[in-house]
Amino acid sequence: MLLGVNIDHIATLRNARGTTYPSPLEGALMAETYGADLITLHLREDRRHIKDADVFLIKQALQTRMNLEMALTNEMLENALQVQPEDVCLVPEKREEVTTEGGLDVLSKQTQIAHFIQELSNANIRASLFIDADLAQIQAAKDIGAPVIELHTGAYADAQGCIEKEQELHRIKQASSFAQSLGLVVNAGHGLNIHNVTPIAQIKEIKELNIGHALISQAIFLGLPEAIKQMKKVMQMARLSIGHQ
Ligand code: PXP
Repeated sequence: MLLGVNIDHIATLRNARGTTYPSPLEGALMAETYGADLITLHLREDRRHIKDADVFLIKQALQTRMNLEMALTNEMLENALQVQPEDVCLVPEKREEVTTEGGLDVLSKQTQIAHFIQELSNANIRASLFIDADLAQIQAAKDIGAPVIELHTGAYADAQGCIEKEQELHRIKQASSFAQSLGLVVNAGHGLNIHNVTPIAQIKEIKELNIGHALISQAIFLGLPEAIKQMKKVMQMARLSIGHQ
């Protein structure tokens, strides 16, 4: 199973202070060094985390492949055609949302989405549709020629209690095997973390997981001890240096 490391929230942290660090580019390269199979990033319409320049810089530097998440707008399509990522994941986008809520409604936007898939495919970019674990949406994705779907695991991640969680897991399992039977490549993501990923990673039809927020959050605590040691050392060295004058 492949891991797509979503680096959006490295950019969130950078933008909080308007600094140049932490650098999403550095994060992408480090993720590749430590096992990411691909790098995922979402260029949102409001540029709240990843910026246009990040996408270009990262694309040039990647050793693996780029999965660019984007909304169904002409501006984003032009961007993608310029950047030439290996994969584009088409997602619904609402300005006021905190994160991507729900999947694309392929059924009601068939003509528009089919146009995007075709334009991307003409440029050798593989399109993926981010959709809920809903059989009708999966069939519609197949009908309009999508090669790949990414199942939205947010409802599973947010489910309260064992019964609801089991129901959501069952939907994802059914959706995965239905999609595979149609010949679609099946990926999944959203809201996954070390506590809830195991049952999803056990679904053999799912080829790739895209994980961001929980990974970057975990990285803070895994890295904080080292960062504190480093800072203390620099401070102590500073004191030592004045002691000798
Ligand atoms: N997949 C898609 C299509 C997404 O939009 C996102 C969030 O940007 C993710 C995966 C990753 O979700 P999370 O940050 O919750 O791991």
